[in-house]
Amino acid sequence: MNKQSFIVVVCLWLWFGAALAEMPPVPVPPENPITEEKRVLGKILFWDEQLSSDNTIACGTCHQFGQAGADGRKSGHPGLDGIPGTPDDKIGSPGVVSMNSGGEYVMHSVFDLDVQVTERSANPTVGAAYAPEMFWDGRAGSQFIDPETGAVSIVSGGALENQAVGPILSDVEMAKVGRTWFEVTSKLQGVVPLVYATDLPADVSGALAANGDYPSLFQAAFGDSQITAERIGFAIATYERTLVADETPWDHFTEGDPTAMTPAQINGWNLFQASDCSVCHAPPVFSDQTFRNVAVRPIAEDNGRQEVTGNPADRGRFKTPTLRNVGLKNTYFHNGILTDVENVIQHYNDPNRFVENEDPLLPVPIPPQDRSDLVDFLTNGLTDTRVANREFPFDQPSLHAGENPFLSLRFDADKETMNWNAVADAQSYPMYRGLLSNLVDGNGDSVPDGGYGDCVSDLDGNLTDLEFADVAVPPAGDGFFYSRGFVNGFGDAGGLGLSSRGVSRMDEVATTCP
Ligand code: HEC
Ligand code: HEC
Repeated sequence: MNKQSFIVVVCLWLWFGAALAEMPPVPVPPENPITEEKRVLGKILFWDEQLSSDNTIACGTCHQFGQAGADGRKSGHPGLDGIPGTPDDKIGSPGVVSMNSGGEYVMHSVFDLDVQVTERSANPTVGAAYAPEMFWDGRAGSQFIDPETGAVSIVSGGALENQAVGPILSDVEMAKVGRTWFEVTSKLQGVVPLVYATDLPADVSGALAANGDYPSLFQAAFGDSQITAERIGFAIATYERTLVADETPWDHFTEGDPTAMTPAQINGWNLFQASDCSVCHAPPVFSDQTFRNVAVRPIAEDNGRQEVTGNPADRGRFKTPTLRNVGLKNTYFHNGILTDVENVIQHYNDPNRFVENEDPLLPVPIPPQDRSDLVDFLTNGLTDTRVANREFPFDQPSLHAGENPFLSLRFDADKETMNWNAVADAQSYPMYRGLLSNLVDGNGDSVPDGGYGDCVSDLDGNLTDLEFADVAVPPAGDGFFYSRGFVNGFGDAGGLGLSSRGVSRMDEVATTCP
């Protein structure tokens, strides 16, 4: 071989090496090309709690970057039998308190007046753009139908658009019963974008400085100010297509930096490649996007993919999740039941799996002495620190309800007046207040020693309206917490929810409202 052809061969090898390692470009449907105006509008919509009927929850409430774009709030769903504390329980995402068609909170048969919880755990939004179908069972398919006109909007490759218009009308996740697109789009006409969010990312505040309301943001993104369901889907999907976590230690390692992963992580990566883990969780996305049954729970609890295809071969199958950023999550599998990666590996080796219709690749033996290196590779080698640290493009505002949408008391701009959503049949709304410094549980009974506050209803003349004003100022260095209850038509008081030991907080207040 002469010198020239040797160089050509080396260059080809390098080029192939890079092509194998790098994340492929995100697929983009021709009907919805990525533009910066659409991306930033999508980001604003994704983080705006006003997309929900009662202003308590945004897409991002359930999809936090600190959790890889999944939900870390670990809320229990009682499962098929409806009874909490049994083996079929799941860990899902808290959504909204059940609302009637008038938008008033109503008692729910399972969740009472607490937030409802989804039946599956939230998939990560980071990296979702690589999947041809969305959700654990892939029920949001590739074709996007305009939800208002019924016309085909995206022929194929529109699963993200298709998915994005779902939660906004879902009466578990974001909506009152029977919410319509007309209600959603007319609401957005009039509200101040992200009014309940703080710490806005720079790109978001820049866009809002140029266009301070939704009609002008839609004008900038789509050429005219019309707000439609289709455009909401287009904008959110565009934003999600930019959430690509391709700067993990593993990416830098495979691009040629041998120091990017530790020796233990390299060992873990070699084990991963040598095992069948890498067949389904195929690099570089770490998912082959197929639906598989890895025997997590009895099929009767959730048929998974079969619900979508009707094909008995699909029973109990779920979408293979990406393993990028998996170490940032705190629940694993479609039902969220496992809470660390080591237990997941243990599951693949567990003789007591639910083997009906199990994938033939299982079990996947990993010798016990090798497991800690594999865990290190998965939890650290595959984590993009920009996601973990919420750095662009994974930056996000703080939401008013924080990570708990049930805290549905909102302060007006005067920081003295609070407002909340109506509860059906409520006759009045008693108010309790306490000092944050008194929220200590010295005796370990899961209830603050000083209780959940004192009745302060007498500070407000009108207890039947949806506002409460308090001009009092807490001592320096301290703060107030407020709990709003309600009294129903029978004169029964309730509405403070359950404490973590399962007792009504109403029974734990320091002084009861008359
Ligand atoms: C109440 C919490 C909650 C809210 C609010 C919510 N989601 Fe989700 N999201 C979930 C859950 C739970 C799943 C999985 C459901 C399933 O598979 O059945 C999910 C799945 C997804 C997926 C699928 C990802 C994949 O890999 O398949 C995407 C994308 C997504 N949500 C985006 C959004 C967007 C956009 C919004 C707002 C319009 C939103 N979510 C609102 C809980 C929520
Ligand atoms: C037959 C294909 C297949 C093989 C082999 C496989 N997985 Fe999985 N993996 C899946 C599927 C499908 C799920 C989701 C299953 C569910 O939720 O019911 C999953 C879930 C996971 C999760 C949870 C991720 C999350 O976000 O919830 C981790 C971690 C994981 N696998 C790691 C591994 C490791 C490590 C191996 C090798 C020991 C492995 N997998 C082998 C298909 C596979």
